Amino acid sequence: MQLIDGKTVSLAVKTAVKDAIAQEGIEPCLAVILVGNDPASRVYVNNKKKACSFCGIRSLEYTLPQETTQDELLALIDRLNKDESVNGILCQLPVPPQISEKAVIDKINPKKDVDCFHNENVGRLWTGNDRLKPCTPAGMMALLDYYNIDPAGKRCVIVGRSNIVGKPMAALMLSRNATVTVCHSKTQDLAAVCKEADILVAAVGRPKFITADMVKDGAVVLDVGINRLPDGSLCGDVDFDAVKEKASYLTPVPGGCGPMTIAVLMQNTLTAYRIQNGMTK
Ligand code: GUN
Repeated sequence: MQLIDGKTVSLAVKTAVKDAIAQEGIEPCLAVILVGNDPASRVYVNNKKKACSFCGIRSLEYTLPQETTQDELLALIDRLNKDESVNGILCQLPVPPQISEKAVIDKINPKKDVDCFHNENVGRLWTGNDRLKPCTPAGMMALLDYYNIDPAGKRCVIVGRSNIVGKPMAALMLSRNATVTVCHSKTQDLAAVCKEADILVAAVGRPKFITADMVKDGAVVLDVGINRLPDGSLCGDVDFDAVKEKASYLTPVPGGCGPMTIAVLMQNTLTAYRIQNGMTK
């Protein structure tokens, strides 16, 4: 089994972004909004800021209290939409219950939507006209490319149908000519479906959900899960120790898919800058 090294690949992607920014003599700017004080979100936001600093991207952080109203948040997004010095806007999810996630996503200017969550960008993705990429799925495609794993003609099974990972991953896999199945909590005989996968993507958010009996010998297994166990350690959606005996390639957690999400976010911020400055169609 070959371990897929997300740290190395993400560094390569971020370095390419950094070099392009330096060569073009530009300074793209990413605004990150964090509402409330979810500790996991705090870590993600800090990592995003660190990556910005590495790449030469200016980052602005807006930390709002847990009790922020939807109107207050939408007013901030409106201000950032209009601010020409801001190229990308990311509101870390989840938001507190008094705020509608959909209202937030709908409000962000699609040209600044570096998460690729807005309906316009999701539509572009499914019709093959995407510019900004869904961060985690595009990060996984970059991992496959780095290891010369071509999805064309392969059977790809995605477990999880979220708007952030499962659905956009299906779009990207289809665009690369994989035969795609998306599984979810109502799927019958999940193990049998997973076992047909040449490329298995686990994005369910349940620790060690994918066991060895669900994996075909020689399959490529991508684990998107980041679950915190009661002892404080991190663990993926895949039972790593058992599945490593069957998979040909496997992502570790941490250090697999996670770092790639941020690397694509950096790429998207550069792309957003280029879109806003007429440097791309
Ligand atoms: N929460 C979990 N993943 C993500 C992500 O990719 N973007 C945002 N904005 N929030 C998230």
